[in-house]
Amino acid sequence: MQIADVQDDIEKVLISHDQLEKRLDEVAAQISHDFAGDDDLLLIAVLKGAVNTITSISQKMSIPTPIDFMSISSYGRGTETSGVIKVRSDLTTDVRGRDVLICEDIIDTGVTLDWLRKELKRRGAKSVTIFTLLSKPSRRTVEVPVEYVGFEVPDEFVVGFGLDFNEKYRNLDCIAVLKPSVYEEDAA
Ligand code: IMP
Ligand code: MG
Repeated sequence: MQIADVQDDIEKVLISHDQLEKRLDEVAAQISHDFAGDDDLLLIAVLKGAVNTITSISQKMSIPTPIDFMSISSYGRGTETSGVIKVRSDLTTDVRGRDVLICEDIIDTGVTLDWLRKELKRRGAKSVTIFTLLSKPSRRTVEVPVEYVGFEVPDEFVVGFGLDFNEKYRNLDCIAVLKPSVYEEDAA
């Protein structure tokens, strides 16, 4: 889905499809270089938001690596994460002794990635490295080491390329900010 298909709902495009592609090419080249020859590398995506990111980055990487998925949720009031995280659907891979590269859509407060990093370490991963497509640095409440960042974005709610608002707009091919009227309609 392209921006013209949902023009009425969109305030502005933050990152175009071409900009996403170009940056993902760069990060994939960097990751491929940094992990060259690593037979223990495993890519992990957090469902559902990171599906586009892991698909794109893994296709652009030049090293063969397995991928796996995990679905987690954080319970809390409203849109804020509470820090209490529940695994909805777990990995099928044993991470013991593996170099794990987490692919995430966005790091906001940092609560989710802080938990996941520690959890994978607890399960015996040899190393845990993080790639996030987007980062909202101004929102961070937990400091998490993030090795690869696609783009830093301002404190605005964004959708597209996997990111949703009430499960919509994940299939938009760019990153955009919704019009406030979309949220208001939804709350009404
Ligand atoms: P954190 O635990 O606060 O870092 O939350 C990260 C998660 O919140 C992401 O994986 C997203 O699912 C969601 N999230 C945070 N900001 C946005 C946004 O601007 N648009 C869509 N989802 C977001
Ligand atoms: Mg997410």
